[in-house]
Amino acid sequence: MIVAGAALVTGAARGIGAAIAVELARRGFDVAVFDVADAGQTVADVSAAGRKALAIVGDVANPADRAAALAEIEAQFGRLDVLVNNAGVAPKVRAGILETTEESYDRVMAINLKGPYFLTQAVANWMIRQRPDRPDSPMCIVNISSVSAYAASVGRGEYCLSKAGVSMATKLWAACLADCGINVYEIRPGIIRTDMTAVVKEKYDKLIADGLTPIDRWGEPEDVAKAVGACVGGDLNFSTGEVINVDGGFHLRTL
Ligand SMILES: NC(=O)c1ccc[n+]([C@@H]2O[C@H](COP(=O)([O-])OP(=O)(O)OC[C@H]3O[C@@H](n4cnc5c(N)ncnc54)[C@H](O)[C@@H]3O)[C@@H](O)[C@H]2O)c1
Repeated sequence: MIVAGAALVTGAARGIGAAIAVELARRGFDVAVFDVADAGQTVADVSAAGRKALAIVGDVANPADRAAALAEIEAQFGRLDVLVNNAGVAPKVRAGILETTEESYDRVMAINLKGPYFLTQAVANWMIRQRPDRPDSPMCIVNISSVSAYAASVGRGEYCLSKAGVSMATKLWAACLADCGINVYEIRPGIIRTDMTAVVKEKYDKLIADGLTPIDRWGEPEDVAKAVGACVGGDLNFSTGEVINVDGGFHLRTL
Protein backbone atom coordinates (compact mmCIF):
# COMPACT_ATOMS: atom_id res chain seq x y z
CA MET A 1 0.00 0.00 0.00
CA ILE A 2 1.32 3.45 -0.89
CA VAL A 3 0.39 5.44 2.20
CA ALA A 4 -0.43 9.14 2.24
CA GLY A 5 1.21 9.98 -1.04
CA ALA A 6 0.41 12.34 -3.88
CA ALA A 7 -1.15 11.44 -7.20
CA LEU A 8 -1.59 13.19 -10.54
CA VAL A 9 -4.60 12.27 -12.67
CA THR A 10 -4.90 13.80 -16.13
CA GLY A 11 -8.33 14.49 -17.63
CA ALA A 12 -10.01 14.26 -14.25
CA ALA A 13 -12.57 17.05 -14.59
CA ARG A 14 -15.21 14.45 -15.44
CA GLY A 15 -15.84 10.87 -16.50
CA ILE A 16 -13.35 8.11 -15.77
CA GLY A 17 -10.64 10.51 -14.57
CA ALA A 18 -12.96 12.09 -11.98
CA ALA A 19 -13.86 8.66 -10.59
CA ILE A 20 -10.16 7.75 -10.41
CA ALA A 21 -9.34 10.97 -8.53
CA VAL A 22 -12.02 10.20 -5.92
CA GLU A 23 -10.91 6.56 -5.58
CA LEU A 24 -7.33 7.67 -4.97
CA ALA A 25 -8.48 10.24 -2.40
CA ARG A 26 -10.42 7.51 -0.57
CA ARG A 27 -7.20 5.50 -0.52
CA GLY A 28 -5.32 8.33 1.16
CA PHE A 29 -3.80 10.30 -1.71
CA ASP A 30 -3.70 14.01 -2.19
CA VAL A 31 -4.71 14.47 -5.83
CA ALA A 32 -3.65 16.91 -8.53
CA VAL A 33 -6.20 17.16 -11.32
CA PHE A 34 -4.73 18.26 -14.66
CA ASP A 35 -7.37 19.06 -17.27
CA VAL A 36 -8.16 21.54 -20.04
CA ALA A 37 -11.58 21.99 -18.43
CA ASP A 38 -12.63 23.35 -15.04
CA ALA A 39 -12.33 20.58 -12.45
CA GLY A 40 -14.29 22.24 -9.63
CA GLN A 41 -16.57 19.26 -9.01
CA THR A 42 -13.66 16.80 -8.79
CA VAL A 43 -11.79 19.12 -6.41
CA ALA A 44 -14.90 19.27 -4.20
CA ASP A 45 -15.25 15.47 -4.26
CA VAL A 46 -11.57 14.88 -3.41
CA SER A 47 -11.83 17.40 -0.55
CA ALA A 48 -15.02 15.70 0.67
CA ALA A 49 -13.03 12.45 0.83
CA GLY A 50 -10.66 14.21 3.24
CA ARG A 51 -7.63 14.78 1.01
CA LYS A 52 -6.00 17.84 -0.53
CA ALA A 53 -6.96 18.60 -4.13
CA LEU A 54 -5.05 20.73 -6.60
CA ALA A 55 -6.69 21.82 -9.86
CA ILE A 56 -4.30 22.55 -12.70
CA VAL A 57 -5.73 23.84 -15.96
CA GLY A 58 -3.62 22.75 -18.89
CA ASP A 59 -3.31 20.73 -22.06
CA VAL A 60 -1.48 17.41 -21.76
CA ALA A 61 -0.30 17.86 -25.36
CA ASN A 62 1.45 21.15 -24.50
CA PRO A 63 5.05 20.79 -23.18
CA ALA A 64 4.94 24.08 -21.24
CA ASP A 65 1.64 23.13 -19.57
CA ARG A 66 3.07 19.76 -18.53
CA ALA A 67 6.18 21.36 -17.02
CA ALA A 68 4.08 23.98 -15.21
CA ALA A 69 1.82 21.26 -13.80
CA LEU A 70 4.73 19.32 -12.31
CA ALA A 71 6.26 22.49 -10.89
CA GLU A 72 2.93 23.33 -9.23
CA ILE A 73 2.62 19.83 -7.75
CA GLU A 74 6.17 20.04 -6.41
CA ALA A 75 5.40 23.42 -4.85
CA GLN A 76 2.10 22.29 -3.29
CA PHE A 77 2.65 18.61 -2.44
CA GLY A 78 6.45 18.31 -2.54
CA ARG A 79 6.24 14.78 -3.92
CA LEU A 80 4.57 12.56 -6.51
CA ASP A 81 3.93 8.83 -6.02
CA VAL A 82 1.33 8.00 -8.64
CA LEU A 83 0.67 9.18 -12.20
CA VAL A 84 -2.52 8.18 -13.99
CA ASN A 85 -2.44 8.99 -17.71
CA ASN A 86 -6.18 9.17 -18.31
CA ALA A 87 -6.82 12.25 -20.49
CA GLY A 88 -7.84 11.22 -23.97
CA VAL A 89 -10.04 12.26 -26.85
CA ALA A 90 -11.96 10.62 -29.65
CA PRO A 91 -11.68 12.15 -33.13
CA LYS A 92 -13.98 15.17 -33.50
CA VAL A 93 -15.48 13.50 -36.56
CA ARG A 94 -15.77 9.77 -36.99
CA ALA A 95 -14.38 9.45 -40.52
CA GLY A 96 -13.42 6.24 -42.27
CA ILE A 97 -9.68 5.75 -42.65
CA LEU A 98 -10.00 6.48 -46.36
CA GLU A 99 -10.98 10.03 -45.36
CA THR A 100 -9.09 10.73 -42.07
CA THR A 101 -7.37 14.12 -42.13
CA GLU A 102 -3.80 14.69 -41.00
CA GLU A 103 -5.13 17.40 -38.66
CA SER A 104 -7.34 14.91 -36.81
CA TYR A 105 -4.55 12.32 -36.74
CA ASP A 106 -2.08 14.82 -35.25
CA ARG A 107 -4.60 16.06 -32.64
CA VAL A 108 -5.53 12.60 -31.39
CA MET A 109 -1.95 11.32 -31.35
CA ALA A 110 -0.70 14.44 -29.53
CA ILE A 111 -3.28 14.19 -26.73
CA ASN A 112 -3.59 10.41 -26.40
CA LEU A 113 -0.02 9.26 -27.02
CA LYS A 114 2.74 11.88 -27.36
CA GLY A 115 1.65 14.10 -24.45
CA PRO A 116 1.30 11.19 -21.98
CA TYR A 117 4.57 9.69 -23.21
CA PHE A 118 6.57 12.81 -22.39
CA LEU A 119 4.60 13.48 -19.20
CA THR A 120 5.56 9.97 -18.11
CA GLN A 121 9.19 10.69 -18.99
CA ALA A 122 9.23 13.84 -16.83
CA VAL A 123 7.39 12.15 -13.94
CA ALA A 124 9.64 9.08 -14.09
CA ASN A 125 12.74 11.26 -13.85
CA TRP A 126 11.21 13.11 -10.89
CA MET A 127 10.28 9.81 -9.19
CA ILE A 128 13.86 8.59 -9.66
CA ARG A 129 15.13 11.82 -8.06
CA GLN A 130 12.77 11.25 -5.09
CA ARG A 131 13.97 7.68 -4.57
CA PRO A 132 16.83 8.44 -2.13
CA ASP A 133 14.36 10.27 0.17
CA ARG A 134 11.90 7.34 0.22
CA PRO A 135 13.91 4.22 -0.66
CA ASP A 136 11.14 1.69 0.07
CA SER A 137 8.07 3.67 -0.97
CA PRO A 138 6.22 2.09 -3.92
CA MET A 139 5.54 4.42 -6.82
CA CYS A 140 3.48 3.63 -9.88
CA ILE A 141 2.22 4.79 -13.23
CA VAL A 142 -1.14 3.72 -14.70
CA ASN A 143 -2.07 4.20 -18.35
CA ILE A 144 -5.71 4.20 -19.42
CA SER A 145 -5.75 2.68 -22.89
CA SER A 146 -8.82 1.05 -24.48
CA VAL A 147 -10.07 -2.09 -26.17
CA SER A 148 -9.25 0.02 -29.26
CA ALA A 149 -5.60 -0.90 -28.61
CA TYR A 150 -6.42 -4.20 -30.39
CA ALA A 151 -9.98 -3.91 -31.83
CA ALA A 152 -9.88 -2.31 -35.29
CA SER A 153 -12.54 0.40 -35.75
CA VAL A 154 -12.12 1.76 -39.27
CA GLY A 155 -14.29 4.75 -38.33
CA ARG A 156 -11.60 6.09 -35.94
CA GLY A 157 -8.29 4.69 -37.00
CA GLU A 158 -6.23 7.46 -35.39
CA TYR A 159 -7.82 6.67 -32.00
CA CYS A 160 -6.98 2.96 -32.36
CA LEU A 161 -3.40 3.77 -33.34
CA SER A 162 -3.00 6.08 -30.36
CA LYS A 163 -4.26 3.44 -27.93
CA ALA A 164 -2.10 0.70 -29.46
CA GLY A 165 0.80 3.10 -28.87
CA VAL A 166 -0.23 3.53 -25.23
CA SER A 167 0.00 -0.27 -24.85
CA MET A 168 3.57 -0.30 -26.13
CA ALA A 169 4.42 2.74 -23.99
CA THR A 170 3.25 0.73 -20.96
CA LYS A 171 5.68 -2.07 -21.80
CA LEU A 172 8.54 0.35 -22.47
CA TRP A 173 8.12 2.27 -19.22
CA ALA A 174 7.55 -0.92 -17.23
CA ALA A 175 10.81 -2.38 -18.53
CA CYS A 176 12.68 0.89 -18.00
CA LEU A 177 11.46 1.60 -14.46
CA ALA A 178 11.24 -1.83 -12.79
CA ASP A 179 14.71 -1.45 -11.29
CA CYS A 180 13.65 1.81 -9.66
CA GLY A 181 10.66 0.27 -7.87
CA ILE A 182 8.21 2.03 -10.18
CA ASN A 183 5.57 -0.36 -11.52
CA VAL A 184 3.62 0.50 -14.65
CA TYR A 185 0.15 -0.82 -15.47
CA GLU A 186 -2.30 -0.54 -18.34
CA ILE A 187 -6.03 -0.47 -17.73
CA ARG A 188 -7.99 -1.35 -20.87
CA PRO A 189 -11.59 -0.11 -20.52
CA GLY A 190 -14.38 -1.38 -22.74
CA ILE A 191 -17.64 0.51 -23.15
CA ILE A 192 -17.88 2.92 -20.22
CA ARG A 193 -20.77 5.33 -19.60
CA THR A 194 -19.24 8.85 -19.95
CA ASP A 195 -19.61 11.95 -22.12
CA MET A 196 -17.22 10.34 -24.62
CA THR A 197 -19.66 7.51 -25.34
CA ALA A 198 -22.88 9.54 -24.89
CA VAL A 199 -22.89 10.30 -28.63
CA VAL A 200 -23.05 6.60 -29.50
CA LYS A 201 -25.35 5.51 -26.67
CA GLU A 202 -28.08 3.95 -28.84
CA LYS A 203 -25.55 2.01 -30.90
CA TYR A 204 -23.85 0.57 -27.79
CA ASP A 205 -27.19 -0.08 -26.01
CA LYS A 206 -28.14 -2.31 -28.91
CA LEU A 207 -24.74 -4.02 -29.20
CA ILE A 208 -24.73 -4.83 -25.47
CA ALA A 209 -28.35 -6.07 -25.63
CA ASP A 210 -27.33 -8.28 -28.58
CA GLY A 211 -24.55 -9.93 -26.54
CA LEU A 212 -21.39 -7.94 -27.43
CA THR A 213 -20.04 -8.29 -23.88
CA PRO A 214 -20.32 -11.45 -21.75
CA ILE A 215 -21.23 -9.22 -18.78
CA ASP A 216 -24.26 -7.55 -20.34
CA ARG A 217 -24.14 -4.01 -19.02
CA TRP A 218 -22.38 -0.71 -19.60
CA GLY A 219 -19.22 -0.19 -17.59
CA GLU A 220 -19.24 2.70 -15.13
CA PRO A 221 -16.33 5.09 -14.44
CA GLU A 222 -16.10 3.55 -10.96
CA ASP A 223 -15.36 0.12 -12.50
CA VAL A 224 -12.20 1.61 -14.03
CA ALA A 225 -11.38 3.60 -10.89
CA LYS A 226 -11.47 0.45 -8.73
CA ALA A 227 -8.97 -1.23 -11.07
CA VAL A 228 -6.65 1.75 -10.67
CA GLY A 229 -7.12 1.41 -6.92
CA ALA A 230 -5.98 -2.22 -7.16
CA CYS A 231 -2.82 -1.10 -9.01
CA VAL A 232 -1.84 1.41 -6.32
CA GLY A 233 -3.07 -0.69 -3.40
CA GLY A 234 0.00 -2.90 -3.12
CA ASP A 235 -1.52 -6.27 -4.05
CA LEU A 236 0.14 -6.27 -7.49
CA ASN A 237 3.65 -5.40 -6.36
CA PHE A 238 5.30 -8.31 -8.23
CA SER A 239 3.51 -7.40 -11.47
CA THR A 240 4.53 -4.70 -13.90
CA GLY A 241 3.64 -4.06 -17.53
CA GLU A 242 0.38 -5.86 -16.70
CA VAL A 243 -2.80 -5.24 -18.68
CA ILE A 244 -6.08 -5.21 -16.75
CA ASN A 245 -9.14 -5.51 -18.96
CA VAL A 246 -12.14 -3.63 -17.54
CA ASP A 247 -14.50 -4.49 -20.35
CA GLY A 248 -17.17 -6.92 -19.18
CA GLY A 249 -15.25 -9.70 -20.92
CA PHE A 250 -15.30 -8.04 -24.38
CA HIS A 251 -11.79 -9.37 -25.09
CA LEU A 252 -12.85 -13.02 -24.75
CA ARG A 253 -13.14 -15.08 -27.90
CA THR A 254 -15.94 -17.61 -27.61
CA LEU A 255 -16.94 -20.51 -29.82
N1 LIG B 1 -15.68 6.01 -22.15
C1 LIG B 1 -15.23 4.88 -22.68
O1 LIG B 1 -16.02 4.01 -23.09
C2 LIG B 1 -13.76 4.62 -22.81
C3 LIG B 1 -13.37 3.36 -23.26
C4 LIG B 1 -12.02 3.07 -23.37
C5 LIG B 1 -11.08 4.02 -23.04
N2 LIG B 1 -11.48 5.25 -22.61
C6 LIG B 1 -10.43 6.20 -22.28
O2 LIG B 1 -10.61 6.65 -20.96
C7 LIG B 1 -10.09 7.98 -20.84
C8 LIG B 1 -11.16 8.88 -20.22
O3 LIG B 1 -12.29 8.85 -21.08
P1 LIG B 1 -13.74 9.39 -20.65
O4 LIG B 1 -14.70 8.46 -21.25
O5 LIG B 1 -13.79 9.69 -19.20
O6 LIG B 1 -13.77 10.73 -21.52
P2 LIG B 1 -14.44 12.15 -21.23
O7 LIG B 1 -14.49 12.80 -22.57
O8 LIG B 1 -15.70 12.01 -20.47
O9 LIG B 1 -13.36 12.88 -20.30
C9 LIG B 1 -12.08 13.18 -20.77
C10 LIG B 1 -11.46 14.24 -19.89
O10 LIG B 1 -10.17 14.56 -20.46
C11 LIG B 1 -10.05 15.97 -20.56
N3 LIG B 1 -9.14 16.31 -21.66
C12 LIG B 1 -9.39 16.23 -22.98
N4 LIG B 1 -8.32 16.65 -23.68
C13 LIG B 1 -7.36 17.01 -22.78
C14 LIG B 1 -6.07 17.54 -22.88
N5 LIG B 1 -5.54 17.80 -24.09
N6 LIG B 1 -5.38 17.79 -21.76
C15 LIG B 1 -5.92 17.55 -20.54
N7 LIG B 1 -7.17 17.06 -20.37
C16 LIG B 1 -7.88 16.79 -21.48
C17 LIG B 1 -11.46 16.46 -20.81
O11 LIG B 1 -11.61 17.85 -20.51
C18 LIG B 1 -12.26 15.55 -19.88
O12 LIG B 1 -12.32 16.06 -18.56
C19 LIG B 1 -9.66 8.40 -22.24
O13 LIG B 1 -8.27 8.18 -22.40
C20 LIG B 1 -10.43 7.45 -23.13
O14 LIG B 1 -9.79 7.25 -24.39
C21 LIG B 1 -12.79 5.57 -22.49
